[in-house]
Amino acid sequence: MLLSREIRFALLTSSQPAETRLGNSWAGWPSTNLVVPHLVLRCVIDGQPDRCTGYLCNIKTIDELLRSIVTGPLISDKRELQFAETILQAVFDELLAKWNHDSTIDSVTLALSPYLRYSIVAGEKMHPTSGPFSKVQLTQQFEFSAAHRLHCSGLSDDENRQLFGKCNNPAGHGHNYVVEVTVSNQLESDRGIVIELGKFESIVKRLVIDRLDHKHLNQDVEYFVDVNPSVENIAIAVFDWLSGQFGEAKLERVKIYETPKTWAEYSGDR
Ligand code: NI
Repeated sequence: MLLSREIRFALLTSSQPAETRLGNSWAGWPSTNLVVPHLVLRCVIDGQPDRCTGYLCNIKTIDELLRSIVTGPLISDKRELQFAETILQAVFDELLAKWNHDSTIDSVTLALSPYLRYSIVAGEKMHPTSGPFSKVQLTQQFEFSAAHRLHCSGLSDDENRQLFGKCNNPAGHGHNYVVEVTVSNQLESDRGIVIELGKFESIVKRLVIDRLDHKHLNQDVEYFVDVNPSVENIAIAVFDWLSGQFGEAKLERVKIYETPKTWAEYSGDR
């Protein structure tokens, strides 16, 4: 069983004033009205719930450990700017070193915003004897707006109407799609980045967003002339367009939200 817990916090140095009373950890603690980074650190653990308490692990234990790491000298008191990858690896290593529980750490994620996050999956971290390397994942969201019509040319008009309902409207209908792209790279423990962020963004913009944004997918995008532009097929198309395009970084998966209620994720396994 997996259990996820996250802490939200303003990244303050010890010399900066902070609200020390724990008032609203939902919004973040320590809280501040200084303009500083507001981060999320998420830890997923794997194990079995205790028969008596029903707890896989007491979340207070996780909170205290995570906060001791991020509010201590590891992050807060570093004067120089650091890449998220470097901070995440240091947090992951310290978390593993301090973890003293029957359950195991499955993954750790550092979110710089609701749209950009970095993760290390414990099972994917290379064995210590093969060197101080970690596989770090970068996940970022993009958006595009497009029209589409769900229609199969192999079915009759009546069958299409029956199968797809209002999604078969001849003139189409629109969605504001969210595209979530995850790439990874093997990094040395204290240096390196998954991929230069601006380069990553420009590749996704050129190969995906510019191709799809403000288009009628069936009519304007060659890929969908004979392929029904369902959210599943859009995820496959985007994965195929991006696969192998990030240099040393590897495309892990593509997730497309057609609405906040519907998404499809594809990692190349069809
Ligand atoms: Ni639709």
